[in-house]
Amino acid sequence: MIGTGYVGLVSGACFSDFGHEVVCVDKDARKIELLHQGVMPIYEPGLDALVASNVRAGRLSFTTDLAEGVKDADAVFIAVGTPSRRGDGHADLSYVFAAAREIAENLTKGSVIVTKSTVPVGTGDEVERILAEFAPNSGAKVVSNPEFLREGAAIEDFKRPDRVVVGTDDEDARDVMRAIYRPLSLNQSAPILFTGRRTSELIKYAANAFLAVKITFINEIADLCEEVGADVQEVARGIGLDNRIGSKFLHAGPGYGGSCFPKDTLALLKTAGDNETPLRIVEATVQVNDARKRAMGRKVIKAMGGDVRGKTVGVLGLTFKPNTDDMRDAPSLSIVAALEDAGATVKAYDPEGFEQARPLLPNVEFSESAYAAAEGADALVIVTEWDAFRALDLGRIKSLLKTPLLVDLRNVYPAAEAERAGLKFVGIGKPKRS
Ligand code: UGA
Repeated sequence: MIGTGYVGLVSGACFSDFGHEVVCVDKDARKIELLHQGVMPIYEPGLDALVASNVRAGRLSFTTDLAEGVKDADAVFIAVGTPSRRGDGHADLSYVFAAAREIAENLTKGSVIVTKSTVPVGTGDEVERILAEFAPNSGAKVVSNPEFLREGAAIEDFKRPDRVVVGTDDEDARDVMRAIYRPLSLNQSAPILFTGRRTSELIKYAANAFLAVKITFINEIADLCEEVGADVQEVARGIGLDNRIGSKFLHAGPGYGGSCFPKDTLALLKTAGDNETPLRIVEATVQVNDARKRAMGRKVIKAMGGDVRGKTVGVLGLTFKPNTDDMRDAPSLSIVAALEDAGATVKAYDPEGFEQARPLLPNVEFSESAYAAAEGADALVIVTEWDAFRALDLGRIKSLLKTPLLVDLRNVYPAAEAERAGLKFVGIGKPKRS
């Protein structure tokens, strides 16, 4: 497994838990050193225990030496980052190609080379070309096997996926992949969908873009709800019970963030542009979501009466979603910037995100607890729905706040509950309260 980011480390740990022998490789010596000490370089619930037990069982090991990982491997997974390239939104494939070349130079047999990183259509062809150049007689095959796990629920998602997608027309390579994923099909019925390689590469982007569209759709409906006196949570339930729509990914909020949807939608648009096939729905989604994150800051300012100069805002949750320390494209970044630009002071509490957040939010005062973030503030804003914020003592919050205002951008609390505690309440997609 080349790369020990979210996807690589979780996949490696889970494959070893299935009983396979896994070597995780990363160039970053600090990460490998941490892993040797049993310290996870990322925050992901359950991962430390899973890694520890498989290391103990002798099935999982870590190294900076790629040759050690590649030699004798039946399959080599490329799970390195594919960040957005500055300027044009295209996925930066330099890490993928560098890994492919290094793998080629160290192959000792006809391994199956699997791209697990999210890569644009046609990347597998280029990896194949690199193999042909640097390991011409290896007999290695290139397969696409995108990963659909979510941060924060990564192990569960990996072990109980809705489907596994494997893109290759080569029968021998399909057999290797079947064997690797066999524990899943024994376990439950996760169908393996075999497709062509380009199709598989596109499935990943189409899936993420569709989910981004779904979230953005309900976010726009939420805005309409506020204007017409409807409740978006009830609308979401009302449409989601239709099996054709489905109830998941219909939680209105401050806009999607994270390491995947923003980057993958841009990369898909780049592919679409290159092929002169515009994807207008995805284009609109990207624009609406960007605008929404900024608009959330204005929403808070409006709830506070329009002028926040000299005021203090307490923010609960900074990471782009709960159960992760990931701050990439987090809505909190735009919201805090809007509040600070308007002259407010921001204090914030996040259960896991401080370390990542600190350098990105240099003017924010970091509080020790949700209650400390509320103390003396003119409003408390829920930005990320960590479980720890679901059962706050709202009476205590009210007594700590200077001005009793709760802006709940994730609809964690029913308005009536907040109002019973004496708080003025503003949610997302809720009828205006008098
Ligand atoms: C996403 C996909 O869900 C995974 O299937 C995929 O494997 C992953 O990207 C990837 O390509 O690596 P992730 O970014 O970890 O996973 O997180 P999600 O749970 O999908 O949430 C993304 C964003 O959408 C978050 O900001 C979240 O708050 C927001 N969201 C999600 C909503 O605002 N409403 C919803 O109903 C769901």
